[in-house]
Amino acid sequence: LPRERGWFGHLFRYQDCWLDTFSLKGCMLVQNHFRARPTDIILGSSMKTGTTWLRTLVFTTMNRFLYDFSSHPLLNTGPHSCFPCIDTYSMGEIGIKDLEALPSPWLLATHFPYTLLPEAVTASGSKFVYIWRDPKDVLVSMWQFVNKINPKEIPPIGLNEAFELFCKGISNFGPFWDHVLGYWKVCQETPNKMLFLKYEDMKREPLVELKKLADFMGHPFTMEEEKDGVVEKIVEFCSFEHLSNLEVNKTGSHQINRDTAIENRHFFRKGQIGESKIHLTSEMMDCIDRITQHKFNGSGLI
Ligand code: A3P
Repeated sequence: LPRERGWFGHLFRYQDCWLDTFSLKGCMLVQNHFRARPTDIILGSSMKTGTTWLRTLVFTTMNRFLYDFSSHPLLNTGPHSCFPCIDTYSMGEIGIKDLEALPSPWLLATHFPYTLLPEAVTASGSKFVYIWRDPKDVLVSMWQFVNKINPKEIPPIGLNEAFELFCKGISNFGPFWDHVLGYWKVCQETPNKMLFLKYEDMKREPLVELKKLADFMGHPFTMEEEKDGVVEKIVEFCSFEHLSNLEVNKTGSHQINRDTAIENRHFFRKGQIGESKIHLTSEMMDCIDRITQHKFNGSGLI
């Protein structure tokens, strides 16, 4: 397979997508063995677009009748350990048998582009929630993340190199723009099957976006719940400020496969819109905006 110096070691070009070795193996396993169920809710995202946040909102909203906020599992469990990511499901995080033993509906997450998912997932009747974000902030978030979690043997990636790779479409699960467009196409063709969320909208209007999410998942907030402030409580509970200050997210870690664990704190950095301005030059920002314009032109996304 075509190979490039990537963000975490090397990336391989597989079915028009760039995957690291670990995700490549996971993808083949998913393509050959994984079957989703009609009741599943699958979160799709590129890396660093707000997956962690969305996970906590989905988990808390779906389980709001099971747990109250004082004894909630997310007080002691990292957001990435509260439900599985199918990309790694056979790679040690959770085996097929463990997954099948989980009660329905399954909550699942994936970074794979829609086009890489097998029919056993895309035609399963599952619902998808997709989140995306301004690519300039994605680039900066990813560059910082990678340099924090890469082992010492891998030399740090400089911002210029990260920028050039990203603009060429070479990033994990990238090209970033194709990832968004792949899910967007399905959302336009079958809106009942996919909810499209944007990080910036969620930051600006969390209550509105959370209500949309609950409606889409088939668990709308009742008038009674709205009166009792349940929507506000979930937004507050899942906020960057609250979650990033929990002990589990300061000191705990998430095992992504047998050999690798990522410290939970690396999933929480700034949690802001437009932080890329501090790091990128105006030429870099213009260049990414031009690519976005060109790629998303006529799509209705911008
Ligand atoms: P920054 O690096 O810009 O701060 P992902 O979860 O897809 O890996 O994305 C990580 C990004 O989401 C990071 O962005 C992180 O700080 C931010 N994030 C994590 N939890 C959040 C929350 N509860 N609310 C808002 N942003 C959050």
